[in-house]
Amino acid sequence: MCGIVGYTGKAQALSPVLEGLRRLEYRGYDSAGIALVVTPGAPLWIEKRAGKLANLEETLGANKPDAHSGIGHTRWATHGGPTDTNAHPHLDNEGKLALIHNGIIENYVELRAELEKRGHVFKSETDTESVVHLLSDARKAHNGDLAAAMREVCSQLRGSFTLLAIHADEPGRIVGARRNSPLVVGVGQGENFLASDVSAFIAYTKHALELGQDEVVDITSSSIVVTDLAGTIITPREYEISWDASAAERGGFPHFMLKEIYEQPKSIADTLIGRTAGLDPEITAGINLEGISKVVIIACGTAYHAGLVGKYAIEKWANIAVDVELASEYRYREPAVDGTTLVIPISQSGETMDTLMAMRYARSHGARVFAVCNTNGSTIPRESDAVLYTHAGPEIAVASTKAFTAQLIAMYLIGLHLGRVRGVVSAELSAEIGQELAELPSKVEQILETVEPLRALTRQFRDSTSMLFLGRNVGYPTALEGALKLKELAYMHAEGFAGGELKHGPIALIDQGTPVIAIMPTSRSPLHEKMASNVMEVKARGAVVIAIGDADLDSAAHNIRIPTSHEFLQPVLAVVPLQVIAYEMAIARGNDVDQPRNLAKSVTVE
Ligand code: G6P
Repeated sequence: MCGIVGYTGKAQALSPVLEGLRRLEYRGYDSAGIALVVTPGAPLWIEKRAGKLANLEETLGANKPDAHSGIGHTRWATHGGPTDTNAHPHLDNEGKLALIHNGIIENYVELRAELEKRGHVFKSETDTESVVHLLSDARKAHNGDLAAAMREVCSQLRGSFTLLAIHADEPGRIVGARRNSPLVVGVGQGENFLASDVSAFIAYTKHALELGQDEVVDITSSSIVVTDLAGTIITPREYEISWDASAAERGGFPHFMLKEIYEQPKSIADTLIGRTAGLDPEITAGINLEGISKVVIIACGTAYHAGLVGKYAIEKWANIAVDVELASEYRYREPAVDGTTLVIPISQSGETMDTLMAMRYARSHGARVFAVCNTNGSTIPRESDAVLYTHAGPEIAVASTKAFTAQLIAMYLIGLHLGRVRGVVSAELSAEIGQELAELPSKVEQILETVEPLRALTRQFRDSTSMLFLGRNVGYPTALEGALKLKELAYMHAEGFAGGELKHGPIALIDQGTPVIAIMPTSRSPLHEKMASNVMEVKARGAVVIAIGDADLDSAAHNIRIPTSHEFLQPVLAVVPLQVIAYEMAIARGNDVDQPRNLAKSVTVE
């Protein structure tokens, strides 16, 4: 939710700031804006436009202001509509101080009233603008020291924020701060960066610093100083980014989503490397997995669906009760949790606010936290006892694909690992599942090689008003994920149902020609026949059934074949055609594939 970038150094600042915004646009695309120090001491150069970054770029045209420091913002609107005026950066009344913000300032109404009384004139409806006026006063009180002013202002704010500020009287200096929203530092040579995530500066440096909660960072081209809000110097954790800029580019694909779908054989293999025979002791060093009474998985969106699949595998292999909770529900209902609870937050970004808050709640009640995350340096792993990183690489398309299949792999690995710790997984089962896991990358490859006809088939349903997804066992969360993908991308009504629930209501939705996607349990499973009966029931009422499975189903109008696998691993295979259907439907209906309307990839507000 909102992408933030800052640059200071020898280069012309506009170029790395624009480049950073391009890479962060997945975080929000309601407006984009840039502020630069062109003439020290004079009002800042600023340009901002509602809509996607392309609108701002069009406005800029060939205009290349000469500046060596600046900040840029791409917005997902919360307070105030997506207009030019509400776009960030926001300026103080002298036009010399500019501020960008990701998050929500909860006490902005009282701050604004107070500031207006003091004579500040507001232009926008945003919560952010209160902070720029507050910062302007604080800077004066601190004799022009922007970092000291930022520390003071942060102590007065409630809510979540990443803030970056520049002042025309301090060219080359950028001051940032964070609380419950992401901010990382890119360490260059003779230049430094601040950004919501490393993709913004990966083309310039792979050396990064992590910032903790309530920390203020003060950078110039040659210095980086991090302090807490009291001004005490902090030494931040340094890390190297393991992927390169090409990983965050489209690489010949028309959309990031398609590229990410096709990257799945690699991202699954990378997530499995060295882990099928047991998790590296380094991964679990910080957590005691013995004496656990129950597992609670907390997540949002697609990650929640990965958790639902995980429940089947972990309960069976580790013989332990598993609850799967929507983080936004869990955090507000005072759930029972204690020191014998193992909480597993799953998050691609590691920054989802609800997941973070739910995890903090559990932790404060003694739970042990073992995170599954795709983003090194993000908040959720930093606040967990242990973390199993998925190695999906950067996922740029807003709709999650390769991160989901990597999260499924993490669920299986944790299920097996817990089973071993609890002494309930036999060597045979461990070896069998290990072998099945190792075969997944080539099986996904096979699906991708034969998926082309599915695209033409999908187009036949372009004008349908609704599409239903049916599954049983792990096929049920797979159905939920298929429906979510279609909603996100095709803006079409879509719902996933458990096959056994059909007769309890959903079957009333079936009409002549209703497309129904049936995720058939593998032909090895006793549930295959049950699902085949469900297909007959919907077909008898006029549904057009598309069956996804490892054997053709005579009663289906169309069959999409996937390789046979262990029943719990099937979602890794079955979801691939579902991703392709959603992708193709978005194109057929003229929708923006990588940046669907109203969504943002990283939901860092409630
Ligand atoms: C947003 C994204 C989803 C994602 C969910 C959870 O809604 O659009 O694709 O699954 O957040 O994100 P996380 O980063 O925590 O996995």
